[in-house]
Amino acid sequence: MRSEICRRLGIEFPIFAFSHCRDVVAAVSKAGGFGVLGALTFTPEELETELAWIDKHVDGKPYGVDLVIPKKYVGREQGDLSKEALEAMVPQEIRDFLDGLLEAHEVPKLSDSDAAFVDSLLGWSASSGRAHLEVAMRHPIKLVVNALGPPPPDVIAPAHEAGVLVGALCGSVKHAVAQKEAGVDIIIASGTEAGGHTGEITSLVLTPQVVDAVAPTPVLTAGGIGSGRQMAAAMCMGAQGVWTGSIWLTTTESEDPPVIIEKLLAATSHDTLRSRCLTGKPARQLKTDYTMAWESEDAPKTLPMPLQFMAVADANNRIYKHSLTQHPTAGDLAGIAVGQVVGMMNKRRPAREIVRSFVDEYIETLEARHEELHAVLGE
Ligand SMILES: Cc1cc2nc3c(=O)[nH]c(=O)nc-3n(C[C@H](O)[C@H](O)[C@H](O)COP(=O)(O)O)c2cc1C
Repeated sequence: MRSEICRRLGIEFPIFAFSHCRDVVAAVSKAGGFGVLGALTFTPEELETELAWIDKHVDGKPYGVDLVIPKKYVGREQGDLSKEALEAMVPQEIRDFLDGLLEAHEVPKLSDSDAAFVDSLLGWSASSGRAHLEVAMRHPIKLVVNALGPPPPDVIAPAHEAGVLVGALCGSVKHAVAQKEAGVDIIIASGTEAGGHTGEITSLVLTPQVVDAVAPTPVLTAGGIGSGRQMAAAMCMGAQGVWTGSIWLTTTESEDPPVIIEKLLAATSHDTLRSRCLTGKPARQLKTDYTMAWESEDAPKTLPMPLQFMAVADANNRIYKHSLTQHPTAGDLAGIAVGQVVGMMNKRRPAREIVRSFVDEYIETLEARHEELHAVLGE
């Protein structure tokens, strides 16, 4: 298990856990893996609070932060547009479609006093990514990762100057090579099985191709990893570790609401789909009445980033608020990004226990293969 990455990051096991939940991040790092906090949903001030909490609770173990600075989004070329300017680009047709859908499910409107659960313009832009990075660099992070494109030079340079490694997620060999050329230290090859934004190629096909294309840069396999057996398979393909997201959603540390946890525990691997309805880019998520409505013939065309998330934010806040109060039908619309590995997430477990089970099963798998090898060689 002592891969080069373990040595460089000072960790016992190359098990990387992406989560928006600080408790998961701290628990995984304390268990010998490497927790990575997703900054996307936080304002810079909130991120400061989360990271200060992690510093207090992680027992000095290493952890990282994940930013989302997409290569392409509306406003990037203009140095980012104001929220008002972006809001004005959202066509009324989408708001009308969502009002109709939520009315059909009898989900009440939000009142003026209801606070939004998520801001309509989350942290996915170069300026918000930079603000997140600035906060993160005030903490003892060991890794900064970017999703949806190579991290820009003004992310890579300050990280390297401070001795922080830089990672990036990719769904194709072409993107992996571009990331290596941009100066990325760790490439995360993410298969289509993954929860959240994802490409079209499976982990099994993508990993060895990326490993070969970017060697000797270390590669982590992401997408569909929920056990030590799968981790062993990833390492056999040349990965130096695994990058996981979905599996932590049903941990006892997870802060997702009961309606979502119940759906995740009940879901099979057939119950996800890849849809642009959340952000405008294909993202794997739970199939719900909401996502299926976007698949229907009368659904409007989705918008490019960040307009789609802005267009659906009110509806999402409305669904989320009412599903928390056990509204009879709002829960049918409520969903979350999750990968096909959801079919293996059948009970709530502490994050530490999951890390241990990965390690135990990884070792058992290699031992069994070792015996098999001796048998094949006739020893
Ligand atoms: C609920 C959820 C939210 C996610 N949000 C982000 C994100 O903000 N940034 C990011 O780099 N990846 C995000 N991802 C993707 C993960 O980083 C990871 O690549 C993916 O979950 C791995 O596949 P798996 O879900 O099969 O474990 C998200 C995944 C999930 C399940």
